[in-house]
Amino acid sequence: MLLHFLQGCKSYFACTLLASFFVTRLEMLIPQVIRQTVDAVIGSGELNAPEPVRRWFFSAGGAAFFRNNLWAIALIILVMAFFLMVLIYLRGLASSLFAEKLKQKMREDLFYHIQRLPYAWHQENNTGDIIQRCTSDVERVRTFVSEQMISIVRIVIMVIMSLAFMFMMNPRLTLIAAIAAPIVVAYSVVFYGKIRSRFEVCDENEGILSTIVQENLTGVRVVRAFGREEFERERFEKQNTYYTGLWIHLIKLLSAFWSVSDFISGLQILLVLVLGSLFCVRGELTAGEYIAFISYNGMLIWPVRFLGRVISEMSKAGVSIDRIRYIMNSEPEHDCPDPVSREQTEQAAHGDIVFDHVSFAYENGKDILKDVSFKVKAGTTLGILGSTGSGKTTLMHLLNRLYELPPGNGSITLGGVNIADMRAQDLRNCIGMVLQEPFLFSRTIGENISIRNHSLPIDEIRRAAGIACVDESITEFKEGYDTMVGERGVTLSGGQKQRVAIARMLTQKSPIMVFDDSLSAVDSETDAKIRQQLHQSLGQSTVILISHRITTLMQADYILVLDKGQIIEEGTPKELESKGGMYRQIYDIQLGYAEI
Ligand SMILES: Nc1ncnc2c1ncn2[C@@H]1O[C@H](COP(=O)(O)OP(=O)(O)O)[C@@H](O)[C@H]1O
Ligand SMILES: [Mg+2]
Repeated sequence: MLLHFLQGCKSYFACTLLASFFVTRLEMLIPQVIRQTVDAVIGSGELNAPEPVRRWFFSAGGAAFFRNNLWAIALIILVMAFFLMVLIYLRGLASSLFAEKLKQKMREDLFYHIQRLPYAWHQENNTGDIIQRCTSDVERVRTFVSEQMISIVRIVIMVIMSLAFMFMMNPRLTLIAAIAAPIVVAYSVVFYGKIRSRFEVCDENEGILSTIVQENLTGVRVVRAFGREEFERERFEKQNTYYTGLWIHLIKLLSAFWSVSDFISGLQILLVLVLGSLFCVRGELTAGEYIAFISYNGMLIWPVRFLGRVISEMSKAGVSIDRIRYIMNSEPEHDCPDPVSREQTEQAAHGDIVFDHVSFAYENGKDILKDVSFKVKAGTTLGILGSTGSGKTTLMHLLNRLYELPPGNGSITLGGVNIADMRAQDLRNCIGMVLQEPFLFSRTIGENISIRNHSLPIDEIRRAAGIACVDESITEFKEGYDTMVGERGVTLSGGQKQRVAIARMLTQKSPIMVFDDSLSAVDSETDAKIRQQLHQSLGQSTVILISHRITTLMQADYILVLDKGQIIEEGTPKELESKGGMYRQIYDIQLGYAEI
């Protein structure tokens, strides 16, 4: 999966590696200059350098010249340091660019993928947790790739190069120096292998913490209205303390690990120092070589110690990658592989809606719909009455395929075409739906209404708003249709939101329109007014009207009474009125109340 993300920024990655290589190469040269200075300039040894360097050394005047002009050597080192600075700058630039590009690509891919995931997936997963995965986890993977992964490459280059230089000077001492490396690495690997699960627990708990925050932000009204601030604060504090405790415990373990690995490295440095000076005394090593050797040993042991940290970050990043992979590997909404054309879908949507022996259960739940069959004639209005939880909304979820009807559970057809054979997008384009709890975006009211078609002229928007009886309220706002809707539309009342949502649907001019309890927050008087205006403007559309208000349903051509997922009564309003069943009972209760 990481490779997939890396694909978009390969060239930046290559530049970073190249710069890293040259930086390390240059860093390796500086001890050589010092070594030669000590041995061949200050001392009286041979110059032990490649041919071009030797030629240059002698043409400049040999050891005698440099001995009298030590500033020249200082200048060489200064020039090298300057180039090193430039290279380090370039490396930093390349790796930052790489990191940002990578992050951008990850965010983009995640967002795109999440948008294609089925509605059921969104129902099952916590928003807070998903956001956490798209922010913290993305950031951690970015850090890993742009810092640790590059570090690993750098460490490998550095270790190989310093070992090579050391080996050229003294193979025996190199072997001794190299002994500590596998010990430190093995120790780190074992330690971090054991600790990985703790990182996972930390991450999970961070997710829980984010979820609490997110719920409190989106549910602020409920929290305030029920005076739950204290309770929520305690819940947050408890989780926060627990989460901090987990980290503190982890940090203690890490600190212990670091001191032990530092101790082992210290021992190694000590060993090289002592044995190196012994070799020097015995004449197996020159003073210059000894100094260079110590420098290279530092370059060898530093990355080896760093490897522990890299591995630690790697296990954290591994957890984050798994968490991101969970999203990326979730199956996107699968569409019909061989759908009918968009025109056919549109035409079918102008036909009858038929539910044929439909049964349905949500994943690992009880049966919600049991053998439901009905037909809505094109251009007529079907009313559905039923108590909460009877499965009304579920019927609509199935109609626009937010949930797929598994094979063998009956069929839903429009104008004789099975909706499973249509492209989900085409199908949904034909069904205007006003949901029970409409969601408004943090944009202007006008934009919220014209969400399907941003170039909709204001007259059209106002006409739709007029039918939904909300035009008047909107024009009363100072900025009219340009008024911003606060997050989740807090500046509008529930009834206003419902009416904006109705206006939004009306601008779609869909052949099928569904009102799922969408007038529940509107007073009966306005409800009647809206219905009357809708009746005139809906014209040819097939309408499904879900409500538990009898007066809303009385206008329907045909009514279904749903109870516990089954149709227990059906008929025209007149028939049901005279039947004396559930419909009649509710009718009596509601109209009785109305008279009082
Ligand atoms: N996404 C879902 N996952 C699991 N169960 C659900 C889901 N949505 C609704 N239900 C359950 O299905 C039943 C019917 O819900 P619904 O169709 O929304 O009823 P209604 O709209 O008639 O009030 C309820 O018992 C509810 O708990
Ligand atoms: Mg419902």
